[in-house]
Amino acid sequence: MIHVSFPKLFGKLVNLRELSKNDATTIVSLMNYDISKYLYKVPYPYKIEDALKFIKSCCDDFRLHKGITFAIDFKNQSQSIQLLSGTIGINDINYSNKKANIGYWIGKQYQSKGIATESVKLIVNYAFDILKLIEISAYVFPENKPSIRVLEKNKFVKIEEINEYHPLSNSYRNSFVYIIRN
Ligand SMILES: CC(C)(COP(=O)(O)OP(=O)(O)OC[C@H]1O[C@@H](n2cnc3c(N)ncnc32)[C@H](O)[C@@H]1OP(=O)(O)O)[C@@H](O)C(=O)NCCC(=O)NCCS
Repeated sequence: MIHVSFPKLFGKLVNLRELSKNDATTIVSLMNYDISKYLYKVPYPYKIEDALKFIKSCCDDFRLHKGITFAIDFKNQSQSIQLLSGTIGINDINYSNKKANIGYWIGKQYQSKGIATESVKLIVNYAFDILKLIEISAYVFPENKPSIRVLEKNKFVKIEEINEYHPLSNSYRNSFVYIIRN
């Protein structure tokens, strides 16, 4: 199914919604080195122009049916407000073979509350039930134990270890490839 309007996904801890330019300053404040070092395409230091470029590329990918990246709003129950805590995206969607990748990050002050685990669950269900995809993959550095835990809690299975060139660090690095099939 190909969307015209941007979807919203609702969970217990989080709501997932479209990113807007207004999110750029919050994204910059959350994107520290301990997060960017685990992400394949995120430079450090991370500037407002980087956040605006990221938000624009997410809009373009949605328009071109290549990807769907959500803002993750954490529902702060005690204060009844929603706070942008990170982003999660379904990327490189291929409607021919019905496969896609996912990528995500959560700001340091919001980590270890179950936010990534619930967000991955929401977008995997969305990808299978609404987009009718059949396989989702995630690439993770072997030392990234919290992300591996998030994937395994969501029933992703490790299928291989690859070695790839990463232009940002100008180095070859190993990654685990995790997948889940519908
Ligand atoms: C990976 C990341 C998204 C996890 O977000 P989060 O919202 O804190 O994740 P959750 O709270 O849902 O789950 C984290 C799990 O990892 C566990 N964990 C945390 N640190 C750990 C460690 N050093 N070793 C093993 N497990 C660890 C937590 O205990 C939790 O598991 P549990 O629910 O069984 O207790 C977040 O750490 C992050 O943004 N990291 C930097 C960017 C990144 O790595 N993105 C993913 C790239 S593949």
